[in-house]
Amino acid sequence: MTRKDLEELDNQDPLKQFRTEFKIPEGILYFDGNSLGALPYATVDRVNEVILDEWGAKLITSWNSSGWYSLSETIGNKIAKLIGADDGEIVCVDGTGLNINKVHAVALKMRADRKVIVMEGSTFPTDVYITQGLIDQLEQNHKIRFVEKNEILDAITEDVALVSLTHVHYKTGHLLDMKTITQKAHEAGALVVWDLSHSAGVLPIELNQCNVDFAVGCTYKFLNGGPGSPGYLFVGKRHQGKQIQPLTGWWSHEQPFAFEQNYRPKNDIGQFLSGTQSIIALAAAEVGIDMVLRADLAFVRKKSVALGDIFIRLIQEHLADYELSLVTPINSAHRGSQISLRSPHGFPIIQALKDVGVIGDFRSPDNMRFGFAPLYTRYTDLWDAVKKLKVIMENDTWRAERFNIPTDVT
Ligand SMILES: Cc1ncc(COP(=O)(O)O)c(C=O)c1O
Repeated sequence: MTRKDLEELDNQDPLKQFRTEFKIPEGILYFDGNSLGALPYATVDRVNEVILDEWGAKLITSWNSSGWYSLSETIGNKIAKLIGADDGEIVCVDGTGLNINKVHAVALKMRADRKVIVMEGSTFPTDVYITQGLIDQLEQNHKIRFVEKNEILDAITEDVALVSLTHVHYKTGHLLDMKTITQKAHEAGALVVWDLSHSAGVLPIELNQCNVDFAVGCTYKFLNGGPGSPGYLFVGKRHQGKQIQPLTGWWSHEQPFAFEQNYRPKNDIGQFLSGTQSIIALAAAEVGIDMVLRADLAFVRKKSVALGDIFIRLIQEHLADYELSLVTPINSAHRGSQISLRSPHGFPIIQALKDVGVIGDFRSPDNMRFGFAPLYTRYTDLWDAVKKLKVIMENDTWRAERFNIPTDVT
């Protein structure tokens, strides 16, 4: 494979126009859209509009006249189109962790006679920490049954209340089989929660076809919503209006502006709101989501798979002499949109790459992640990054002291 072959793929790429809509600095090869998506130019205009025209000029009247009051639901309905849900099943609100707290609390109430929660032990820690906090708060002897990916199905026994999994694993990039696992959980009488943080917007998802009960996710990765942009949660219609989520703030009250003394829950997805959201952050997130809505997710997935396959091949062809082992499944049917490589020197290698304009990231203890965002990652970026990585490995550049200084965010 040559660079020319990859140039040809870029020329034929049906998604290539999207890249022009993002601000990607000259000379930067960006492989971290799985952690923080790039900035759409349209976000700048929209945020300016919200600040100057809606907040600045219309002031508080914008809650009614600019659609602020229902923005969480409006954006939720857009996200629904990306992940196979219906109108009225998603709100874009709070953060992923808080949303996990809400849906886990409801799911555990719905299966009050069962005490086991199945989770991957190596999953993104906040999913576990939040669950441990909830267990502590409930004081009902719930237990997390930690398993790894090949043990999940066997772990779903008749004592399980809830199976809570990340669709694409943050570190390894492996993709779980949503349909089979959800079905197995239901056969055992359990409920499921899927964390879609690493899959929404980069591969087709069919929540309702898979009969999923609850889901959560964030908008700052492949949905390009901006740093710290709001999360979202999905509650299947059949589960709404039954159990009350515990963060019973006034926005989840049947009539917030009646200012009644006692709580009366909304009976729809609105019960999963809690309080006032950052409208500026929601507006920025909406722009990123609108962009993904314009793309055909079948094309996005096809390109994502091709980018992953080519990256693996280039690593094998050009870097076989170095201690870089593939963590992500080689079979594209079992992976999301990132490739992770393991190296005992992963941290300084990632720093040395950043120094030459190649941005990936590091996840302790030895995992180097390279994410592919098909709306702006080019095929030639793969070639150029692998060439730069080769120079770093050949020259041992990563050994320099400055690349071995710990940073807060890795
Ligand atoms: C799978 C997964 N869940 C949750 C989060 C983060 O949650 P929050 O948005 O609450 O910080 C991440 C962050 O990368 C993640 O990868």
